[in-house]
Parts: sequence; C-alpha cells; structure tokens
Amino acid sequence: MDKRIFIHDVVARDGLQIEPQWVPTERKIELIDRLSATGVAKIEATSFVSPKAVPNLRDAEAVMAGIRRNPAVTYVALVPNARGAERALAADVDEMVLVVSVSETHNRANVRRSVAESFAGFAEVFDVARGSGKAITGALATSFGCPFEGVIPERQVMDGVARYIDQGVAGVTLADTTGMANPRQVEALVRRVRERWPELEIALHFHNTRGMGLANVLAGLAAGVVRYEGCLGGLGGCPFAPGATGNICTEDLVHMLHSMGYATGVDLDLLLATSRRLGEIVGHDLPGQVVKAGKTTDLHPAPPEMASH
Ligand code: COA
Ligand code: ZN
Repeated sequence: MDKRIFIHDVVARDGLQIEPQWVPTERKIELIDRLSATGVAKIEATSFVSPKAVPNLRDAEAVMAGIRRNPAVTYVALVPNARGAERALAADVDEMVLVVSVSETHNRANVRRSVAESFAGFAEVFDVARGSGKAITGALATSFGCPFEGVIPERQVMDGVARYIDQGVAGVTLADTTGMANPRQVEALVRRVRERWPELEIALHFHNTRGMGLANVLAGLAAGVVRYEGCLGGLGGCPFAPGATGNICTEDLVHMLHSMGYATGVDLDLLLATSRRLGEIVGHDLPGQVVKAGKTTDLHPAPPEMASH
C-alpha cells in the first residue's frame, strides 16, 4: 500500500471555536507552530468571521501574524463573506475555505442566510480574491445529515458541489458537521461525487459524535479519497448545531492509517506530544484515545510473576 494520505488539522478553528474558555492568542500560536512541525499537510488556523458570532476566534489577525510558517504546510482560514476574505488576504493566508450547509435550516442557524444567498455571497469572495493567487476551497456542512432536517437528499449535496465548481473552487470538503454519517452512506455518496467529477479534489470532514468517525474514514478510503480533516485531541464542534461534539481525533486517525500501512508524512510521536500540550492549554480531558492508551507498538514489560520462575 503506497497511497499517500493528506492530513488536515482543524483544531485551531473547529476545535477552539467551541471551547468554553478563552485560549490566549499566544497559546493558539504555540499550538499551530507545534502542529506545523508534525508533518500535517494543512492547518486550518482560524476563521475571519464576525467576532460576535464566534468570539473565541476574534484574534484571527494576531494569530496569523504570530505563527511561524512552514513552507510545506498550507495555512487555511475559514471565511464567510467578502469582508472575511479581505481580512484573510490582509493576513496573507495561503488558502480560504468557504462554508455553506446543504441544509437550509442549518445554514440559517450558522450564517443567517439561505443557501442561495450564501452562494451569491461567495461570488463576492471570488471577486475579492481574484488576482491574489490564493486558492479557495468550499466546504459543504451537514452533507451527511442535519440536526434539524435529518437526512439530506443526495441531489442537494450534488447541487452544492456543482455550484462550488461553477464558482471556481480548487476543492470541495464534504463535512459531517454533527456526526450523522454512516460508512455505507459515505462510500455511496463519495463514489457518486467522484464518478461525476473524477478530477475534483475531495476532502472529508467527520465528527465522532456517534462513534462512527474512523469507520467513515475507512469508507472514504474505499471510495478513493486521500484527504481527511481531523482535530488534535478530538476537540471540536459547531456552536450552531445542537449536541455537536468533537471531530475525529487527528492522532487517532494517523495512528490507524499508519497501523494499516498508509503513509501520511506525519510524525505520530510529535503529534501525540502536541495533543498532550493541547490538553494542558485547554485544561480538560480530551476525547482522543491513543494519547491515553499509547500506540499499539508501545509494548509493556511482561508481568513480573511470569518473568520469575
Ligand atoms: N469579519 C468581521 N466582522 C464581520 C464579518 C467578518 N467576516 N462579517 C460580518 N461582520 C460583522 C459586521 O460588521 C456586523 O458588525 P456590527 O454588528 O458591529 O455592525 C456584524 O458582523 C453583522 O454583520 P452582517 O453582515 O449583518 O452579518 P450577519 O449578522 O448576518 O452574520 C455572519 C453573518 C456570517 C458574518 C456571521 O453569522 C458569522 O460570522 N458566523 C460565523 C459562522 C461560523 O464561523 N460558524 C462556525 C463554522 S462552520
Ligand atoms: Zn466540523
């Protein structure tokens, strides 16, 4: 198995946006700098949204100005509108990610717009970004189910992908915002998208809300996807979705992939150390499992009674 898998960590955005305690700017910078050394391909560093909507990320400019950029890493920020795009460009992000929900109800809860209004606003983002050379990718939230509307018809997801492609995105992320996806659904939907747009760069964003997160990654792999988003420590969740909990845990994801023989380019030990540091920074227990159990290759000495006979 020689397929390279690309790991995108979103803890600094998806993780920290929902934290109950304010994480000081210098700690955010420290976290991103540590992540930058682990070998992850992309880091979603912050979002340029309304500070009233997401007060935790009101220091987006200072975070982007403070981090040490590793040229091998793409630094991404979420932008909701043209205003966010102007801020992101001024902060010299490498890439912007747009987000719209395929569910009307969740989109209104999240960004106070209809889906059509969101796409109309993205046209303004493309206008702002034109000539900057910055890539724009599009995320489709609630692609596998909405906490308000339930299962989303596949046609709606395909429409969302088509609209993004028409606008000129460099890639599309299918996001399971509240952990409703199941592996069979993931494989079927992703295969459908890949059949229709074989050249499209697809990333998958899963939450482990119902324990199906890594199983969904396997389904994504079976459908041929090589880009996965995770949150260090398994932190995360959408503040505008009831009952939202953590993303799939980046280090558990990398551990699973390495155990299976996939290459990610990530130094798992460094990632685990960074996750421990994250625990200190946020000051509470994290859902990640490998950091507690150790890697499968971390063997223990045999019990003494067996050694002495
Ligand atoms: N950056 C900073 N401030 C912004 C902004 C941006 N990108 N976009 C809007 N604002 C400010 C406006 O200046 C205005 O401020 P004021 O009340 O002091 O005048 C306020 O936010 C409202 O602006 P408006 O254009 O009326 O937007 P809105 O109230 O309809 O909110 C969003 C729309 C998208 C800006 C807002 O809902 C938002 O930022 N949501 C965050 C979504 C998110 O991050 N979700 C989690 C990740 S999926
Ligand atoms: Zn998420």
